[in-house]
Amino acid sequence: MHIFTKGMDKKWQGELNYIDLFAGPGRCYISKEQVEVDGSTLMSLGFPFRKYFFVEMDSANLDSLKRRCAKSPKLNSIEFRLGDCNAVIDQIKPSGLTLTFIDPTGIDIHFQTIRSLTEGRKVDLLMSIMDGIDIRRNFDRYLKTPEGGPLDRFLGGDVDWSRIKSPRDVVEEFRSRLRNLGYKTVEFTDIPISNDKNAPMYFMLFASRHPRGLEFWKKIAAIDDRGQMEFGLGEVHDE
Ligand SMILES: C[S@@+](CC[C@H](N)C(=O)[O-])C[C@H]1O[C@@H](n2cnc3c(N)ncnc32)[C@H](O)[C@@H]1O
Repeated sequence: MHIFTKGMDKKWQGELNYIDLFAGPGRCYISKEQVEVDGSTLMSLGFPFRKYFFVEMDSANLDSLKRRCAKSPKLNSIEFRLGDCNAVIDQIKPSGLTLTFIDPTGIDIHFQTIRSLTEGRKVDLLMSIMDGIDIRRNFDRYLKTPEGGPLDRFLGGDVDWSRIKSPRDVVEEFRSRLRNLGYKTVEFTDIPISNDKNAPMYFMLFASRHPRGLEFWKKIAAIDDRGQMEFGLGEVHDE
C-alpha cells in the first residue's frame, strides 16, 4: 500500500482507490504471539487512497468493521457493502487507479468477478491464492464433478478439464486467464506463506497491467522477507 500510494500518487493526483473484497472485521488475532493487529482494511486507512470499498459477507464481521472505522477521519470515503463479493461486484465502480486486495480463506473468488471489476478499468490485484488450504486439499473432490463447481468458478468457466491434472495446473490456468485479461506481471515472485508446521498454505500473487506494477512487486518481495517470516510463524484468525 505504501509503495503503491507513494509511487502512483503524483501521476494520479488523488485518484487512487482501495478495494477489499473479503474485508473481514478489521482486526486479526495472531494466536502464536497472542497479539492483535490491524487487518488489511484498517491498515489501508493509513494510506492516501481517495476512496475505499469494503465488501464483507458476514454481517457480524461487517458490523465490527464499521464500528472500528467509525472514528476514522476517512469514514466518509468508505463504501461498505454487505454481501458475497461475487454477487455485488457490479455495484462497485471505481474510477482512477485501484488496488484491490482479495483475501479469502478458500478459492471463493470467481474469475467472472475479476473480469467484471477489471474490464475497462485500471485495477491492480493483490491476492491470497489458497493453494494448500483449498486447492490441494480438495482437488480430488472438486474434480469429480468439475462443471459448475468451485474450480470452474475460480477459473471462470469453459475449462478444458483434460489439462487440469494437478493442483499446480489450476494455478497455472488461473495465471494464464489473468494474462488473457492483459495482466502481464503475475509470473513475478510469489511469496509463499507457510503455517507453523512449515506446510505451504497459500501464497500471495500480484497482478498488474502496468510495467510499474512489476517494479513495485520486486521491491515488495525484497523488503518483505522479514514480514513473510512473521506471517509464516503465526496463524491469523478472524475474530
Ligand atoms: C481471511 S478474512 C479477511 C481478512 C482481512 N484481509 C484482514 O486482513 O483483516 C476473509 C473474510 O472474507 C469474508 N468472506 C468470505 N467469503 C466472502 C465473499 N464471498 N464475499 C465477501 N466476503 C467474504 C469472511 O467472512 C471473512 O471475514
